[in-house]
Amino acid sequence: MADKAAAKAAARAKFEGVFDTIADELLAYLKGEGMPADAIEWYKKNLYHNVPGGKLNRGLSVVDTLEILKGSALTDDEYFQAALLGWCIELGFFLVSDDLMDASITRRGQPCWYRMPGIGNIAINDSFMLEAAIYYLLKKHFRQQPYYVDLLELFLETTFQTELGQLIDLITAPEDDVDLSKFSLEKHHLIVVYKTAYYSFYLPVALAMRVHGIKDKAAYKAALDILLPMGEYFQVQDDYLDAYAPPEVLGKIGTDILDNKCSWNVNTALKHATPEQRQILDKYYGNKKDKEAEAEVKKIFSSDNVDIPGRFEKYEAESYDKLNKLIDQIDEDKTGLKKQVFTSFLEKVYKRQK
Ligand code: IPE
Ligand code: MN
Ligand code: MN
Repeated sequence: MADKAAAKAAARAKFEGVFDTIADELLAYLKGEGMPADAIEWYKKNLYHNVPGGKLNRGLSVVDTLEILKGSALTDDEYFQAALLGWCIELGFFLVSDDLMDASITRRGQPCWYRMPGIGNIAINDSFMLEAAIYYLLKKHFRQQPYYVDLLELFLETTFQTELGQLIDLITAPEDDVDLSKFSLEKHHLIVVYKTAYYSFYLPVALAMRVHGIKDKAAYKAALDILLPMGEYFQVQDDYLDAYAPPEVLGKIGTDILDNKCSWNVNTALKHATPEQRQILDKYYGNKKDKEAEAEVKKIFSSDNVDIPGRFEKYEAESYDKLNKLIDQIDEDKTGLKKQVFTSFLEKVYKRQK
């Protein structure tokens, strides 16, 4: 157990070690374009505030997947390529705009970027500049590879899918028109697959598959069929933790109840609430800025009959079972995939507390 934790910490440290190189390349580009020192400094702060410091599940999964597919240790060049693609996902420009749109307060234990002194709406351009960095880095490091266009396509398509997810997440949670009858677990399913599963789960594995030279369409479909449900499970955890994890552990303060979000918690509560409890939810859910309203909603969530914590525990156990069964059905010979790619990703998130 201690060995496993030490190996995990070492893998993380090695991956983090690549970030400085990447940031330096990006900053050198600005310099080369004759950008003034304050602009370079601004971009540097943007990069260092927003990119490292997360759980790094997405980024590390590119490295881990490539290593598992190869079946032996990566060369230094292979490691750097995989880590670079991992950091391209971690460039995580979605989170900068997501926090602005969700009026969030903190992320990763620090104020959200848009709330830092002097930032505000400039965070919008800053999030575009994180995205643009992906394509600068891809061109610089992969232009000569036969799979360059495949990498571009993967980033472009999963970006569009994520934006579609953000769109339906946001328009299902209007600020001024709380109507819980518009919510459903089906709606929730669509939102989370698009806003989270494609870019957080399919993208890292598919990138590594491309680098490894897998071309068979059916192999990508087989990966998708497992990674979308895995991403859905991950976002249900995110929704659950929004209301139940201590902010100092989670690194962010939950805003889903205040923001009228179509979350797993509220949809599950709506299924089990008594008519009296439903009235309270109708009255208090989505009351922006009202901490007392939020507390009333949380009381219903934790009541004996609604029991979100108990139902979540059951959901988590069932999801874990279901995902392991799906993984077990993979035909390794036919697809060129390895079951371990998926079990290793699942173990990263199973029973996570943050
Ligand atoms: C947003 O989901 C997913 C993306 C960033 C694309 P959330 O809004 O639930 O994410 P958090 O809870 O703010 O991290
Ligand atoms: Mn958010
Ligand atoms: Mn969330």
